[in-house]
Amino acid sequence: EEACLFNFVLFGATGDLAMRKILPALFSAHLDGKLHQDGRIICVAKQDLNQESYLDWVHTQAGPHVGEGIANKNADQWQSFLRRVTYVALDATRAADYALLGEQLNNQAVTVYYLATSPKLFEPICNHLAASSIALDNARVVLEKPLGHDLASSRAINDAVARVFAEDQIYRIDHYLGKESVQNLLALRFANSLFEPLWRRESIEHVQLTIAEQLGVEGRGEFYDGTGALRDMVQNHLLQLLCMVAMEPPTSLDANAIRDEKVRVLRALRPFSRDDLETRAVRGQYAAGAVRGQAVGGYHQEAGISPQSKTESFIALHAEINNWRWAGVPFFLRTGKRLAERTAEIVITFKPIPHAILPMPQGVESSNRLVIRLQPEESIQLHCFAKQPGDSMTIQPVALDLAFDQAFKQKRADAYERLLLDVIRGNLALFVRRDEQEAAWRWVEPLLNHWQSTAALPKSYLAGSWGPSASSAMMSRAGAHWPEDR
Ligand code: BG6
Repeated sequence: EEACLFNFVLFGATGDLAMRKILPALFSAHLDGKLHQDGRIICVAKQDLNQESYLDWVHTQAGPHVGEGIANKNADQWQSFLRRVTYVALDATRAADYALLGEQLNNQAVTVYYLATSPKLFEPICNHLAASSIALDNARVVLEKPLGHDLASSRAINDAVARVFAEDQIYRIDHYLGKESVQNLLALRFANSLFEPLWRRESIEHVQLTIAEQLGVEGRGEFYDGTGALRDMVQNHLLQLLCMVAMEPPTSLDANAIRDEKVRVLRALRPFSRDDLETRAVRGQYAAGAVRGQAVGGYHQEAGISPQSKTESFIALHAEINNWRWAGVPFFLRTGKRLAERTAEIVITFKPIPHAILPMPQGVESSNRLVIRLQPEESIQLHCFAKQPGDSMTIQPVALDLAFDQAFKQKRADAYERLLLDVIRGNLALFVRRDEQEAAWRWVEPLLNHWQSTAALPKSYLAGSWGPSASSAMMSRAGAHWPEDR
């Protein structure tokens, strides 16, 4: 595929995201030969740096996050990558500064405006781009989350951006959609005839989606404390995964064909009733404990957290989808910080056999399960049962295993790299459309309101555990359990 000529304008270019994810991903694309040789990266931030001091900053801050390293054989490539970069000091709220930016743009190229800034700046940036006539028809804008903190604020942001850019110029990033295994889920579902007849309430008992992290709030205490796990992970990443599992087969890979199906799922999510708010949602907050044998402090001891904070660092939900395919099938969602392991996985548990004639060994999971692992390594396993070799008719679980690093030797792009290349190429399929985003807010909002109005505190859990015991209790009430509770 021919590389497309671009100007990549990165607002927030001195920030954490730019250094940890965006610049390393662009470098990786550069290394892979996927960037047009004349493609330019224009790094924009408020700091009064010159070209040289900015590049030094990139070298020390982004360098360590580059997968293959910038030393040895990649040292030359790193230097040639840095030659694409131009730093522009600009106050995003000052109209006059945008002329400086305009001078840097190659008019022959597609222009990408990547807003890795506080969402407060989205509106002024878009307005100034329009006023200085550099938001052209072939321009694209990439919006990073958080896109608001509830439905109303997310609408306000979307309205402001929509006054300047058309919906098909707006790329709302959810980096989970860029993960290889998430797209593999599409391949599994829509390139095989095997699964589709089983992919429904008649055959599936329940679905579990887990994104567990060992990290705490790291340096982002203040941001996280105003956000919490529901907004940080559920409203976007977990609901997007749920859509990928639950959506109807789209008629093509066209961006809107896919997004039409996803939004139908989001709109079919059963709204939380008054009772559900207590019985189908568990929020937790970590107390001091140990992760991987290392003692770690509790949530309240982290920098930037207010002493009375009720912000949840863990959440488990029992969701349902009101449509013919899924009615009555529980979708259990959970995510949290400072949990026992770093893992992201989707577990589809099939209905048990109607009548057992073979003795099952004690303590094993007795249903077929399809386990799709996103992290730390990517794999898909189908858990079945087979006879143990020998005289007796003893049954044993076996897994049909597709470990991607063994099956496919080629390098797999990181999520950000893939998504950034999609923006440059103009492919919206893996980006979130406005109606999806708003449907997701609509569904989570009753929980946010309920927590705000109640004096109840989140349940405490030990750092390094799997969350509060109420999460296991919620599962038991639905006749299910998390994998570690077997
Ligand atoms: C981000 C959240 O969107 O996703 C972070 O803001 C979280 O809090 C991160 O740590 C997890 O992403 P990944 O790809 O490391 O699982």
